[in-house]
Amino acid sequence: MSDPRPIGVFDSGVGGLTVARAIIDLLPHEPLLYLGDSARFPYGSQPVEQIRRYALEIACNSIEVSAIGDIAVRADIPVVGVVNPGSRAAIRATRNGVVGVIGTDATIATGAYQRAMGSAVTLHAAACPAFVDHVERGDTSSAELRSAARGYLEPLMEAGIDTLVLGCTHYPLLSGLLQLELGPDVVLVSSAEETAKDVYGELVSRELLAPTEGRPVHEFVTTGDPDQFQRLAEGFLGPEVRDLGVEQVTLEGAWS
Ligand code: DGL
Repeated sequence: MSDPRPIGVFDSGVGGLTVARAIIDLLPHEPLLYLGDSARFPYGSQPVEQIRRYALEIACNSIEVSAIGDIAVRADIPVVGVVNPGSRAAIRATRNGVVGVIGTDATIATGAYQRAMGSAVTLHAAACPAFVDHVERGDTSSAELRSAARGYLEPLMEAGIDTLVLGCTHYPLLSGLLQLELGPDVVLVSSAEETAKDVYGELVSRELLAPTEGRPVHEFVTTGDPDQFQRLAEGFLGPEVRDLGVEQVTLEGAWS
């Protein structure tokens, strides 16, 4: 059995493109629809109730920790979040049992990663609110960003982490910078790749894989400026963004 429906991926902006890239790599025949709610970016510094409202209109880390239960019930399709896949991979990767997680204010405040990893590891969490703005501006290497990273990471290094979970979909785009600051001995866990493996598992086990003939459609829409989104997305995700161009959409009332 096969299912031609697309995989939906959504985020507050371009961050979820890291997850979309990983999904396209693992599932090259699947159509994909990506929605970036750039007009309301950033989500991660807003109250959880507000993020839940946004999420139910459309569902990143900040969205998942606020609303994934509601989304799964309403959507009636398999919903795969990023917190559990990243947490599982970190538990497997750590050698000394001391793990760090970085995310937005909302993600860290909800304690979702702390709950997901439980007593399996000693977890040190740090909110890195400045990161997403840099990424949304296309900056993954400025001196200002490196200095912010040093400040955020110092307490985690002092705590002796040997594994760091990138608990925000924007952060895999900062992997080079983060690894440089942390040094080669700290394992970075990208929830994008781990999540893509879970999506693969869901589609295979529920017999929802798309037919393998033909070229799948990858569609990208944003609530913000489509030209700006396209420029960033081509750099962060790749040429698939060019196939249809980026369309602007409005979301209000979609789930009401
Ligand atoms: N990329 C989102 C996440 O994974 C957060 C970005 C934002 O603050 O909007 O949490």
